[in-house]
Amino acid sequence: MSNNDLAIVILAAGKGTRLKSSLAKVLHRAGGRTLVEQIVRSCESLKARQTVVVVGHQADQVAAAVEPLGALTVLQHPQNGTGHALQVAKRALGRAKFAVVLPGDAPLVRPETLRSLIAAHHNGNAAATILSAVLADPAGYGRILRKSETLVSAIVEESQLTDEQREINEINSAIYCFTLEKLWPALTRVKPNNKHRELYLTDAIAALNAKGDTVLAQVAADSREVLGCNTRADLAEVDRVFRERKRQALMDDGVTIQLPETVLIDPEVTAGEDTIIEPGVQLLGRTKIGARCTIRTGSVLTDAILGDDVTVEPHCVVARSRLDDRVIIGPFARLRPDNHVKAGARIGNFVELKKSTIGEGTKAMHLSYLGDAKIGTKSNIGAGTITCNYDGFHKYPTSIGNKVFIGSDTALVAPVRVGNGAYIAAGSTITANVPSDGLGIARGRQVNKPGWAARKRRELAAAEKPMKTSKKSKRRKVTKKRK
Ligand code: UD1
Ligand code: MG
Repeated sequence: MSNNDLAIVILAAGKGTRLKSSLAKVLHRAGGRTLVEQIVRSCESLKARQTVVVVGHQADQVAAAVEPLGALTVLQHPQNGTGHALQVAKRALGRAKFAVVLPGDAPLVRPETLRSLIAAHHNGNAAATILSAVLADPAGYGRILRKSETLVSAIVEESQLTDEQREINEINSAIYCFTLEKLWPALTRVKPNNKHRELYLTDAIAALNAKGDTVLAQVAADSREVLGCNTRADLAEVDRVFRERKRQALMDDGVTIQLPETVLIDPEVTAGEDTIIEPGVQLLGRTKIGARCTIRTGSVLTDAILGDDVTVEPHCVVARSRLDDRVIIGPFARLRPDNHVKAGARIGNFVELKKSTIGEGTKAMHLSYLGDAKIGTKSNIGAGTITCNYDGFHKYPTSIGNKVFIGSDTALVAPVRVGNGAYIAAGSTITANVPSDGLGIARGRQVNKPGWAARKRRELAAAEKPMKTSKKSKRRKVTKKRK
């Protein structure tokens, strides 16, 4: 079978009533992507002539999820069952001779499993080949009725099982390979004989069998691959499996993950050799981590790009930012989007960055807000430094040069520039540019008054004396005061 003979059909028009959600089932996420996107991606390597996604419920959103991946969508309205969904897709399949059909809610299937299904279909010269699985608890799935060791006679839906059939633990995954010239006539013979008055694709199996066509079922080597997401618990389980696969892939590439089951990693994340990921970390979006980094417990990185030997101390939150080699941040640092922290720089505890560039070797160790700031190399930003970048209407930049020393508790009222090598005295509110190698000091001058405190205490004590009578009268006075 050449790839040009093959089409993929993904059935994704249903609502997913059992999830109790306003969101269409296939738009729920597992393993960091929508279910339907996961399925389109697992079919990619089959290189079929066409991937057709049948959409219906929240059609626009589903189409928006799959069309960027090159899939074609067809609208099924109303949604009259899985058999009807396939009829709706017929025209879009063009000249394909075979179709792999998948439900939109069983995203764990692996490409190699699909390839082996297609091979079995081909080798057996079958009209239909079902991917089945043997489950300890088959409840909720359609069951495979075999008429011999190799041949299938029908699929019986859960709602239509006899007591005897209920014992069958080989289930229908709803993933099939069909020979289309056999399928179309069989589908026309299917009747909506069920309580939902729907056309079931599963009934096409009995229709094919009745005509003497060959129907095979290939048992999935790993039954977890066919898990469908009909409930929130199913979704959680599918997510868990995807996450486990991703962690395993990173560990295979030389990444250490401690207590792996507590670590959540999105599918596109990469990490280099000897990087260590501590418990409770989340690596999300397109995060890329270099070699020998340490991401310590409780940190959440989204779309972060880290060089080599970077340390993210516990409980940091990083969004869309670059940290170059040997940077250390945290604990408790927050990097909002669009920062570039250059090599060897150090961002300490309770420091927030936004749209800022921190030069090589620069340190901002404690309790600061640096927004819309450009800071040169080897500068020191004292504790409690704030860039006042917003006047209630607009944002303004702060520019700080190389080897600058900003004293603690400095407010830099932007737009403002501090030249190379300048000093800012602690506690200053800087509203004008500070020249290179100069000192900026902007605070009230200190006045010391010798003996003032002692005098004050004496005065207060003298004023208190007449009131120092009995405890009783003192209490009376207090209650009076309260009134
Ligand atoms: C289906 C199978 C069942 C199998 C199970 C495996 C049928 C009748 N039953 O049951 O044998 O064990 O999957 O998970 O096929 N859809 C449409 N249009 C429709 C109806 C459904 O596109 O008119 C789509 C849904 O969006 C979903 C898929 O088809 O992605 C399967 O539908 P679902 O309702 O989940 O079927 P199950 O009850 O799980
Ligand atoms: Mg289902």
